[in-house]
Amino acid sequence: MLKVAVLAGGGGTNLQAIIDAHKAGKLPDTELSFVLSNKPDAYALVRARDYGIEQVVVDSASFSRAQFEEKLMDEIEKRQPDLIVLAGLMIMIPKELCRKYKNRIINIHPSLIPSFCGKGFYGLKVHEAALKKGVKVTGATVHFVDEIYDNGPIIIQKAVEVKDGDTPEILQRRVMEEAEWKILPEAIRLIACGSVSVLDGVVKIQN
Ligand code: GAR
Repeated sequence: MLKVAVLAGGGGTNLQAIIDAHKAGKLPDTELSFVLSNKPDAYALVRARDYGIEQVVVDSASFSRAQFEEKLMDEIEKRQPDLIVLAGLMIMIPKELCRKYKNRIINIHPSLIPSFCGKGFYGLKVHEAALKKGVKVTGATVHFVDEIYDNGPIIIQKAVEVKDGDTPEILQRRVMEEAEWKILPEAIRLIACGSVSVLDGVVKIQN
């Protein structure tokens, strides 16, 4: 049984996609163990509560960065998840966590990495940048997390068409619906069934 922690800071639609997949029996051998948020008012926490998942808050606004990192590490370490899923967490996780959980932390990013990623590229900003550049195709990426923003080995990517008249909000929604909400649960499923390995920084998937 893969014990999964989801770290989310916002509306939690990606968390909801994971919950829906779990509810539908599409994530066998997976336990949704706890949801941790750095924001006490994150709607992701309501989604967790409604599905009976433990909710943990480490309020990043109430602590210094060092205190926040220590508390976050404590909460995670005492629960010992097998996999940590970053689903809309808009704050950098501690480097120590990246090291301790090497190839056991995944992140969903709303572009085709290496485009529109790295520091400053998150949420709506990613889609604003894609539209500004005039790309015709964008998408989403699930990747393992290392100590550098949006840098770790890529697990799954899915392309999404950019259409005339798109606003950042419209494009964000399409990327979520057509890509993010599919590839994030799928990546968890593949990891849970032992199909994902990393060799020399590159992911291999055996189905
Ligand atoms: C998602 O689009 C996710 O890809 C993005 O934030 C949104 C969270 O939505 N994450 C990043 O930009 C991380 N760099 P959600 O809270 O509804 O899942």
